[in-house]
Amino acid sequence: MVDLSITVAGLKLATPLMLASGTVGYGPEYDGLIDFTRVGAIVTKTVTPRPRAGNTPPRLAETRGGMLNSIGLENVGLDGFLSEKLAEAGRLPTLVIASVAGETPDEFASLCEAVGERGETAGLELNVSCPNVKRARRPLWADPDGVAAVVTAARRATDKPLFLKLSPNAADVRSVAEAGEAAGADALVVANTLPGMRIDVTTRAPMLGNRFGGLSGPALLPVNLALVWKLSDSVGIPIVGSGGIERTEDALEYMMAGASAFQVGTALFRSPSVVDQIVDGLAKHAVTDGINCLSGYTGAAKEVETPCQRTRAD
Ligand SMILES: Cc1cc2nc3c(=O)[nH]c(=O)nc-3n(C[C@H](O)[C@H](O)[C@H](O)COP(=O)(O)O)c2cc1C
Repeated sequence: MVDLSITVAGLKLATPLMLASGTVGYGPEYDGLIDFTRVGAIVTKTVTPRPRAGNTPPRLAETRGGMLNSIGLENVGLDGFLSEKLAEAGRLPTLVIASVAGETPDEFASLCEAVGERGETAGLELNVSCPNVKRARRPLWADPDGVAAVVTAARRATDKPLFLKLSPNAADVRSVAEAGEAAGADALVVANTLPGMRIDVTTRAPMLGNRFGGLSGPALLPVNLALVWKLSDSVGIPIVGSGGIERTEDALEYMMAGASAFQVGTALFRSPSVVDQIVDGLAKHAVTDGINCLSGYTGAAKEVETPCQRTRAD
């Protein structure tokens, strides 16, 4: 028997597979479609201090290799989350990590305090990386000092594990990651979507009401995978890989690059059965590889010689 459980930021996950924020609502929407006992944790839709209606529709567009979304953080707001959604999510047989986003460090702190004190909350994900929310100044995700201020405020507000979700769009992601770690983040989520757009050539109009959206799905995998590899060399906290995972081998790539766990999002739109397929595949791979604990895959690609090195040795 392979032990599929994994410990990340002090949380024992039944499997390393987490459900990415915004792709399964608050969780119960997928009850009966996903076997939540096989899910390490669900990350709930990002909640903001007040309810948000989100961006102008259309808010989804398909593209080769993935999809674009410009939801714009539509959510029920903190009160609705606390009074209804969190309790419902907490009844699922998996851990709940609540994703939060504020406009200021104080807003992040208030969200973390209110959500973090609830028993249903296993951890918090700080969403400093949503590409669909307009900001007047430099985007938060690209600002190491701004991210450090957010994490510092959140750290003071709760003892629960803090997952910091980065953006692949920052020119210097490493500085942002290091600032987040120094400020007290317990794990990094690497990473959110990349900005993109599509145009309907018949109407000559952008396909998204917001014009621009976040690119997710397979096209994102090599981008975020490279970030996991690089960041795992520069931070000591665990990394959760995210971006384009739809098969077991995709998940293994992230783990071998240095991730301890991973999140699945867009692939759920095609079929929620991807959860079973990926988890079954992990168990099979582990048996074939003679691994009895999945943490044995974390960083494994850094321990083997590259084909180039082998050729030189020959
Ligand atoms: C429709 C949709 C809504 C999303 N909403 C959120 C959100 O509210 N908060 C967040 O941090 N990420 C959000 N994301 C990003 C995902 O959590 C994930 O990081 C990203 O899609 C990359 O993973 P994937 O390629 O497996 O989907 C959303 C993605 C999609 C497709």
